[in-house]
Amino acid sequence: MDDRSFEEVRGRLNGVSRRDFMKYCSAMAAFMGLPVSMGTRIAEAVTSPKRPVVIWLSAQECTGCTETLLRTSHPSLDSLILNLISLDYHETLAAGAGHQAEEYRAKSIKENEGKFILVVDGSIPTKDGGVYCKIAGRTALDILKETAPKAAAVLCIGSCASWGGIPSANPNPTGAKPVHEILAGTGITVVNHPGCPPVHYNLLSTILHFLTFKKLPALDEKNRPVFGYGRLIHENCPRRPHFDAGRFVKEFGDEGHRLGYCLYMMGCKGPETFNNCPTVCYNDLGPEAWPVGTGFPCFGCSEDGVGFFAPLHSFAKPTYVTPPIFFTKAQEEEGEGASTLAAGVAGAAIGAGVAAVAMGAKKKQD
Ligand code: SF4
Ligand code: F3S
Repeated sequence: MDDRSFEEVRGRLNGVSRRDFMKYCSAMAAFMGLPVSMGTRIAEAVTSPKRPVVIWLSAQECTGCTETLLRTSHPSLDSLILNLISLDYHETLAAGAGHQAEEYRAKSIKENEGKFILVVDGSIPTKDGGVYCKIAGRTALDILKETAPKAAAVLCIGSCASWGGIPSANPNPTGAKPVHEILAGTGITVVNHPGCPPVHYNLLSTILHFLTFKKLPALDEKNRPVFGYGRLIHENCPRRPHFDAGRFVKEFGDEGHRLGYCLYMMGCKGPETFNNCPTVCYNDLGPEAWPVGTGFPCFGCSEDGVGFFAPLHSFAKPTYVTPPIFFTKAQEEEGEGASTLAAGVAGAAIGAGVAAVAMGAKKKQD
């Protein structure tokens, strides 16, 4: 990216220098398991004069997924993300409301048919014709079925959109279903970014990948990006040495808990959960900003059907008593040279990288 191109978009970057912006793009490339040199291509893609249009549909959700995207600790990060895309429709973030917002959504979809990115947040109620979630008099079910075929890519954010999540828990009164079930048989690839909430860099990275390379990143058999979900939490957990040494928390608040021992005997689902939360953590708040980092066992929030309400069960009666010797193997690496290990390492670095960029911007604002 030359200086001129950067100057043209500087206003959208909230004072971030070209150098810091390039660092950020290189960190994002590494995060996706791509060579760092791909950062230049990412920078060129996201600074193109025409910002990519994103339509964000919300169905049965708690807004936690939007919160995780916005609740970064540094004010410039949301600018970096949101100013580089054109978020044409988002019920919570849009300035407009009511008919005005709906008209704008319809107009944007018409003008950008086949080119916009559709993000779906929340599960879709199907019982009684889908009446349990209506927007401007129309069901979320109808809106999704109408919008998805017109999108260039359909990306789910969170466990509700990806697996059904809490709204689909037994007895599932609204007939809540994940997006991929609604769109089954249409030939549309639905990319899942599960988690409750998900690691926000995963969605952002898929968007960046799609914009840069005009195709989706490598996906696993559950249509999750391999760069984000290719490794078990147990593989990257900082408490792993305690597991290997047989040092376990037996009760919340005991000596082992105070010393940061492994939470396996408290029901930790890290050995069967694929996610990069241990390396990326949440909201740029440092290495303890994820469940196990705070002393709470992973309850598998990013796995299909594993997690919800499991914590209560875990408190009452630990799921595991004797740790097994072997666990499920991590996914094989696949596609376009993607290295999930590299992505994991980059994940640990990206928080620091983004924080540095953000702090650089903050410094300039001060
Ligand atoms: Fe970490 Fe849980 Fe594995 Fe223990 S069982 S090492 S706390 S992921
Ligand atoms: Fe979720 Fe477990 Fe990570 S509960 S955020 S997958 S530690």
